Amino acid sequence: MPLPKAELHLHIEGTLEPELAFALAARNGVPLPYAHTDELRKAYQFDDLQSFLNLYYELMAVLRTEQDFEDLANAYLPRAAAQGVRHAEIFFDPQAHIARGVAMGTVVEGLWRALGRSTENHGVSTQLIMCFLRDESAESALETLEAAKPYLDRIIGIGLDSAEVGHPPAKFREVYEAAAALGLRRVAHAGEEGPPEYITEALDVLGVERIDHGLRCMEDDALVERLVRERVPLTLCPLSNVRLRAVDVLAEHPLPAMLDAGLLCTVNSDDPAYFGGYVADNFHAVRDALGLDQERMRELARNSFVASFLEHDEERRAR
Ligand code: ADE
Ligand code: ZN
Repeated sequence: MPLPKAELHLHIEGTLEPELAFALAARNGVPLPYAHTDELRKAYQFDDLQSFLNLYYELMAVLRTEQDFEDLANAYLPRAAAQGVRHAEIFFDPQAHIARGVAMGTVVEGLWRALGRSTENHGVSTQLIMCFLRDESAESALETLEAAKPYLDRIIGIGLDSAEVGHPPAKFREVYEAAAALGLRRVAHAGEEGPPEYITEALDVLGVERIDHGLRCMEDDALVERLVRERVPLTLCPLSNVRLRAVDVLAEHPLPAMLDAGLLCTVNSDDPAYFGGYVADNFHAVRDALGLDQERMRELARNSFVASFLEHDEERRAR
């Protein structure tokens, strides 16, 4: 039995498995530059974040209708349940769909057709976090927040993702302030490829409650001390870090040092269809490569609920 856990760093578009991508491409008449799923899988060799993002955005072009987004979420949920996930806070990237002419409502309503019944159907409670693409403009992020206003009963918070280097968090101060005023929770990717300063900026300028990745905090002792003192959760994604070459091999992942430093670390899957595993696969991979004992594994599972946006009595029920 996998440990019960919460998944806090998962891009729903990153759960698009090749088989579903081909099925949706056929259903929607979207051409794919790959002859079959094996050929597509062979393209899953990445040099860095950008090389992954190029394929990720290309493939998500098959998502067009509410039914497609419902099917995408319905494919993820049983996999998550089988991996011990009791609660998932799920990212989505509306700008990537709006750019292709797919409306915000199509994305949110479609996802919600599956997520709105996830507890009853799969034993997994779910929440949605809307991410802004940091390589798009601050104006575009503000327009996206405006477009999301009719759907805010379905969206718990906002995040910041896509190409990190050269797009510091402060660019998005205004939209984070507007989101805070609307009562939305705030997270941001920082310190995946970008420098430790981006983590500090996400905390100080954007007021985030969690850092997605945060790997590069380890380059700055004072920042580590602060993250420990303020109990800022980090949503680490070890298999992603290896596939995107943030670390050379899993055996060199800083997770044990991060836990020893007292950081509130969680382990997550990021884009599991692309990176070779869902969340329990990430747990098993770090256990095996880094020699984490059962107590450490339980700590990681416990941290996932502590770091979640569940209220405490909801958290107890999910566990
Ligand atoms: N979008 C999807 N996965 C991402 C990642 N690992 N980093 C930044 N943006 C992303
Ligand atoms: Zn991510």
